[in-house]
Amino acid sequence: METLREAGVVVTGAGGGIGAALARRFAAEGARVVVNDLDAAKAAAVAAEIGGTAVPGDASGVVGPAREALGGRIDVFCANAGVASEGGPEAPDDVWDTSWDVNVKAHVRAARELVPGWLEDGRGGRFVSTVSAAGLLTMVGSAPYSVTKHAAYAFAEWLSVTYRHRGIAVHAVCPQGVRTDMLRATGATGELVLLPNAIEPDDVADAVFAAMAEDRFLVLPHPETADQYVVRAAEPDRWLGGMNKLQQKLEETLRAEPERDPEVAR
Ligand SMILES: NC(=O)c1ccc[n+]([C@@H]2O[C@H](COP(=O)([O-])OP(=O)(O)OC[C@H]3O[C@@H](n4cnc5c(N)ncnc54)[C@H](O)[C@@H]3O)[C@@H](O)[C@H]2O)c1
Repeated sequence: METLREAGVVVTGAGGGIGAALARRFAAEGARVVVNDLDAAKAAAVAAEIGGTAVPGDASGVVGPAREALGGRIDVFCANAGVASEGGPEAPDDVWDTSWDVNVKAHVRAARELVPGWLEDGRGGRFVSTVSAAGLLTMVGSAPYSVTKHAAYAFAEWLSVTYRHRGIAVHAVCPQGVRTDMLRATGATGELVLLPNAIEPDDVADAVFAAMAEDRFLVLPHPETADQYVVRAAEPDRWLGGMNKLQQKLEETLRAEPERDPEVAR
């Protein structure tokens, strides 16, 4: 891996959670870090803490101002901002649209602005996509999240297939539960499915840095995800049966404690 000293790094959704952990780690390596978040106060706080630059706003529009803040070049882009929501086909269009926009299209828009420059100047670049294990498997209780994370994974994979011989490194970061505000907001589903083996944001940053050092695409901070991914591919009905048991367990929990059902709580 190239040295990160003085490298220009952008992390979207870095006002907290995994993004903040990534931003701190890059800064500790001597990188110049742009901290993006929709929440301007959070972005400013993390930027102040690490000596970085806050560029608040929607992750979709960050490349231009971030490039300017970094003096003309972005070496590493971490497409990390994401949204999680409940529901299936009944989830309203605006929930689906926001999920597509933040979890997928923000990655596409960033790559559209980054890739030509990375190819033209011959120095390449690094695109780190925070997907989720839901992008390889699924997330019970949330179709918009599962579907858009699969798409984010597919986009990262496509970038890697297309540009790896031209100096662009891509990483797809696919954790299961991570103790962040997002996990805390998932209620009963998160408690049942994600909390039991949840890890810390710093553990995700460790896994990302290990993968960058090895130039490895797939980042699995929970190693057990690899086995589940194999079963999904090799024995889809066995895997679906197991996931459906989890769904049934979730339904039982919500029947026993209806106040935790998001439909009731709303
Ligand atoms: N926490 C988990 O269990 C978990 C597991 C797997 C993957 N992930 C993924 O990790 C990423 C980071 O999530 P987290 O767990 O750290 O959550 P988090 O809620 O702590 O952080 C997400 C940050 O993104 C910001 N954000 C939301 N929409 C934005 C937008 N349009 N533009 C800029 N910033 C925006 C939020 O303000 C927030 O600060 C997400 O992509 C999420 O899907 C999280």
